[in-house]
Amino acid sequence: MTRTIYILNGPNLNLLGKREPDIYGHETLDDVATACKALGAECGLHVDLRQSNWEGQIVDWIHEARENAVGIIINPAALTHTSVAVLDALQAFNGPVIEVHISQVHKREHFRHQSYVSNRADAVMAGFGVHGYALAMQHMAKLLG
Ligand code: DQA
Repeated sequence: MTRTIYILNGPNLNLLGKREPDIYGHETLDDVATACKALGAECGLHVDLRQSNWEGQIVDWIHEARENAVGIIINPAALTHTSVAVLDALQAFNGPVIEVHISQVHKREHFRHQSYVSNRADAVMAGFGVHGYALAMQHMAKLLG
């Protein structure tokens, strides 16, 4: 049976490839989806990649994942640094959670050094560019066995 992974993306990541390419690169979220789906297919994982600019939508998708997904890869974007609601939703999810940041947040502004989501994440990727999603997929496959 194919198992499903949610890859959730927060505010402004719909602009990936166009937004601050010096920081986030030129690849789009569609490119990320294509790469992660191909990797997932190799290890029997169905990838469901979504993006929203709305905090409540991200919370609702995490709740949905409780029933529909065996693991969550999440780039919460700016919500990383602000959202107790996203953290609380993730605390209610039982499977592995991997936090991804395209940029090396610890090298950037001080306010980006704090992550609420890291209180729940089983692993954190930062600074690998969009390749961080692929690395997270590989690690997710390992965690799920
Ligand atoms: C980000 C880093 C966050 O600080 C920022 O708000 C983002 C993207 C990253 O992928 O590097 O929107 O999560």
